[in-house]
Amino acid sequence: MSSSVSVANENGVAVVTIDNPPVNALSFHVRKPLHEALAALRDDPSARAIVIACAGRTFIAGADITEFGKPVEQPELRAIISLLETISKPTVAAIHGTALGGGLELALGCHFRVADQAAKLGLPEVKLGLLPGGGGTARLPRLVGAAKALGMIVSGTPISAGEAKAAGLVDAVFDGNLLAEAVRFASEMAAGAGPFVPVRDRNNRLAECDLAAFDAKAAELARKARGLEAPLACAEAVRNAITLPIDEALAAERQLFLKLVAGDQSRSQRYLFFAEREAAKVPGKDLQKRKIAQVGIIGAGTMGGGIAMAFVNGGFPVTLLETSGEALDRGLAMIEKNYSVSVSRGSLSEEVKEQRLGLFKGSTDYADLADCDLIIEAVFEDMAVKKEVFGRLDAVAKPGAILATNTSYLDVNEIAASTSRPRDVLGMHFFSPANVMKLLEIVRPDKTAPDALATVADLARRIGKVAVVVGVCHGFVGNRMLSARGAESEFLLLEGAAPSQVDNAFTDFGWPMGPFQMGDLAGLDIGWRNRKARGQTAVIADMLCEQERFGQKTGRGWYRYESGSRQPAADPEVEALIRDKAVERGVARREIGADEIIERTLYPLVNEGAKILEEGIAARASDIDVVWVNGYGFPIGKGGPMFWAGLEWAAKIVERLEHWHERTGRAIFEPAPVLRRFAETGSWESVGR
Ligand code: 3HC
Ligand code: NAI
Repeated sequence: MSSSVSVANENGVAVVTIDNPPVNALSFHVRKPLHEALAALRDDPSARAIVIACAGRTFIAGADITEFGKPVEQPELRAIISLLETISKPTVAAIHGTALGGGLELALGCHFRVADQAAKLGLPEVKLGLLPGGGGTARLPRLVGAAKALGMIVSGTPISAGEAKAAGLVDAVFDGNLLAEAVRFASEMAAGAGPFVPVRDRNNRLAECDLAAFDAKAAELARKARGLEAPLACAEAVRNAITLPIDEALAAERQLFLKLVAGDQSRSQRYLFFAEREAAKVPGKDLQKRKIAQVGIIGAGTMGGGIAMAFVNGGFPVTLLETSGEALDRGLAMIEKNYSVSVSRGSLSEEVKEQRLGLFKGSTDYADLADCDLIIEAVFEDMAVKKEVFGRLDAVAKPGAILATNTSYLDVNEIAASTSRPRDVLGMHFFSPANVMKLLEIVRPDKTAPDALATVADLARRIGKVAVVVGVCHGFVGNRMLSARGAESEFLLLEGAAPSQVDNAFTDFGWPMGPFQMGDLAGLDIGWRNRKARGQTAVIADMLCEQERFGQKTGRGWYRYESGSRQPAADPEVEALIRDKAVERGVARREIGADEIIERTLYPLVNEGAKILEEGIAARASDIDVVWVNGYGFPIGKGGPMFWAGLEWAAKIVERLEHWHERTGRAIFEPAPVLRRFAETGSWESVGR
């Protein structure tokens, strides 16, 4: 037997153990010996039952994603499952950790599934732009019903062992030695009366399905798919399970899988899966981490409150510091309100809410930060205020405490240099709302100690964030590129596009919303204040702000919002204002198409990314993509701006940038040398530093 698969006999129960670290993916070197072992055990009279279990931290996490896009080596997973279904003695999957994708599908090929109480089970293929390709769409509905299966497969979210037991996905949940319990369970089954019916032949739950209700749910999910093909294919395949004989449903699932796996969307999403894991590999990641037990946050405004919640949700006690008792009370009240909303929506229990609130300590005295291991500043975006805060921190923080700033734009080297301990200073740039958004830019100034960086990267993962290490420059990776994306917006309006046209071009591309809707949501006053502080202007946006059109919060911005509604309506006043400005500036108005909108906003975005890469502000093109997908809503089906540049054909991007540069003379259009080289080589790897 190979080292990836071993077989032992426990009192007449054959235990097949898969050992393929780190997550027991079903690579070819697992599938082949697994198939051989099961074929031998099927006809082995010394085995009364078979248990399939895994060594290490988890049950099988699915197919080996690195094998997609390459020729399939036999035996495929589907052949192993078919073989399992020809075995008449009881077969039992013993699940600990996570049974995901092909791992769960293999378990669905068994007669029984038993799980450790902490196990999770799911079919997350949709997150890779795929659908379950090992029969999951046909077998899962036969155990849990079509409606539940639809929800699990389209969301890709795993469920707990308890929920799986209640739904009929697992037969028993154990607390303790899972393998011993699984062997006992298998032995009992073998002693009982057969025959044991494979999942594929259990049709009772399907007969319960209300097809009209199913279709209504599927239509609702399709509306939310925002151009992604996989969720639609998932729904189609589950529907086939209801309406077609199983072999036809399995054949149709296969066809859908093959189509998706060869498509750009899945390629993009698989790329992002590895990109996120690559981004986590920061320099010095194996160094001894500093101990972080107590966290301090300065400023209980929009960001400070959200960051504090992110840490408390991760189990860290937080001391929240404000300038006055009043500001502190306001911040704490907002936090309590946010938790109450979660309780009223049913996503949090009252008990957990109380536990979490118990982890906050409010203060107006810097001395209370003396026991904190990490202190994050989230005060006003003003260098003088930041420096004052860091000066006070320098005086009270204990030696070795990590001091972080949540600044959006400011020079973190300058902030670090204002302290006596620049080795302990870095940026932790969270995104709003910080308790929800997954991205964290870890800004690395010149003097930060590698262990401080590694500690923060590790901590980010512990509080569920996707972290990317970036260098110091104005706006770092995300906001700097955002400025490049937005630079042409007002010109587009003056030249003839309506805000809704620009926004529609973005949503058609796959963004959750366009730049003008986004501005209205975030509040136009923020950018206005920022511009004023930097002596900059924006022709139309400044005018809107002068009229107190700050966006949704004032009911008027780029759009109108009727009595508290969040639904934007085109506003003729804004359109008139734009036309007047165009006349005043002598700009001739014309029809502007969606292609031009994309060229003038997203090509400069890619171009700025290339400059960022050249300057070493981001270490990898994939880091930039992780920032844009997790922090700014770049469509996952396109993989992020740098990956999309390859899909879009970089030579065309260069050519169009040159065109717009020639026409406007604006620097954002001047193709970066790194982009030109990418257009020639087709790989960002070869153009890095
Ligand atoms: N194939 C190949 N490599 C995988 C993998 C997979 N299915 N799942 C994880 N890995 C690798 C990761 O790339 C990482 O490698 P690295 O250390 O070199 O960066 C390593 O395993 C550890 O992964 P994580 O850092 O993600 O470890 P965690 O402990 O945080 O999470 C996990 C474990 C929950 C299993 C998570 O890795 C995960 O969600 N994996 C993907 C699960 C999945 O999508 N399965 C479906 C695959 S598609 C499929 O099965 C098709 C089928 O229907 C035919
Ligand atoms: P905010 O105005 O909502 O909150 C700032 C808070 O800091 C206020 O409650 C204020 O009372 C407090 N404060 C001011 N000076 C202080 C001091 N010396 N000591 C203690 N508390 C003090 O601002 P917001 O939006 O939370 O921004 C904070 C920081 O986060 C800024 O640097 C901003 O650039 C950054 N940021 C903001 C994002 C956003 O979307 N709002 C996103 C990411 C970063």
